[in-house]
Amino acid sequence: MTVDRRALISGFAAGLALPFFRADAAGRMLAASSRAAGREPSELAGDEAYWSQIARAFDSDSTLVNLNNGGCSPAPSHVLEAMIRDLRFSNEIPVHHMWNVLEPRIESARRGLAAEFGCDPEEMAITRNASEAMETLTLGIDLKPGDEVVLTNQNYPRMITTWEQRARREGIVVKKISFPVPPPSPADVVDRFRQAMTPRTRVIEVTHITNLTGQILPVREIVRMARERGVEVFVDGAHAFAHFPFKRDELDCDYYGTSLHKWLLAPIGTGFLYVRKEKQKKIWPLMAAPPAMDENVRKYEEIGTLPAANHNAIAAALAFHRGIGAARKAARLRWLRDRWARRLAAADPRFRILTPLNDTESCGIALVHVEGIDTEKLQAFLWEKHRIMTTPIVHPEFNGLRITPNVYTTPDEIDLFCDRMEGALRKGLT
Ligand SMILES: Cc1ncc(COP(=O)(O)O)c(C=O)c1O
Repeated sequence: MTVDRRALISGFAAGLALPFFRADAAGRMLAASSRAAGREPSELAGDEAYWSQIARAFDSDSTLVNLNNGGCSPAPSHVLEAMIRDLRFSNEIPVHHMWNVLEPRIESARRGLAAEFGCDPEEMAITRNASEAMETLTLGIDLKPGDEVVLTNQNYPRMITTWEQRARREGIVVKKISFPVPPPSPADVVDRFRQAMTPRTRVIEVTHITNLTGQILPVREIVRMARERGVEVFVDGAHAFAHFPFKRDELDCDYYGTSLHKWLLAPIGTGFLYVRKEKQKKIWPLMAAPPAMDENVRKYEEIGTLPAANHNAIAAALAFHRGIGAARKAARLRWLRDRWARRLAAADPRFRILTPLNDTESCGIALVHVEGIDTEKLQAFLWEKHRIMTTPIVHPEFNGLRITPNVYTTPDEIDLFCDRMEGALRKGLT
């Protein structure tokens, strides 16, 4: 039996997935994993017989082409149904069904996420999104006026805003470094952080993979360089977890926040915050918790009443993710990326790909700049005329269309996008 097939079946046996998995979804996953048995992820990456089974787990509207899965992804139908089922059940008598029956099951989602990320469950808090996870860190660490924080100007805008609010309110100093797209090397990015640090630097915030170009940054090297100087590193992994394979120990990080409604394909309103056990005492929760919870990771979940349904459906999304296998998923996403990005790059030099197309510095997200065409008008043209959804990225230093396919994206959809892009260069936006 292959590892992924075994993981899927043992997921059922452990009760991780069974209540959530519709029989047909489970059957389809098992059929797909038989087809995958013993084959390398790269060999399977272009096998439509396998990926069309995966695509059938989603109720996506095939009259639309969704190439903005980075913003927020649809969940597989059975994952969504698990959430809806729990919402209905809660609604019968919320004070009992939601609080007493469903809420305690958060522990199973916590265990599953911790195993996937490679940390102890006591280091894993479930949040509603990456913003909540990252703002818990940003607003939760004690800093004095004059203390410095180093970010890049490609960090997520809401995260930058949060630091800048602290600067306005408390007099901390926020320094933003810039780096080229793509950077000349991972070491160059580490150097830029190193050069921005001073004896007053207390925190670095780095994005694991940027939402702008899909550049994967050298987190482990930044963490190690900063740790030698006693500087904390907050890692914003909103787009990284369940997108490409990695474990906590490979990053060696103490803090990590992510959304689960992007690449894990969990329902909207799910994320996690990891804080290494010995660091928990120094990070205050966003909403207050008693001193007895100072070293309890659940203090970050003290946010009042919320639906248990969303976070419990994480278990179904995790089982789906493991059923595919993290390495196979990443290989497919890179295969889809290469199909459009290499075709456009070869078609015309006015298409400039601002993301390195390799296996270590990017995965399913990439950015294309089109010389001579306004990015926002191009995005509107693709959506309004052709029902192809992309994201316009307009940064002071570069701009382009961000393209993010997903596991259900077909080669035909990618080809249609390329045809329309080449047409736009030939004929303009008409
Ligand atoms: C790098 C990064 N950080 C944080 C976020 C915020 O995610 P959410 O809106 O799910 O909280 C995003 C969203 O796209 C992001 O790309």
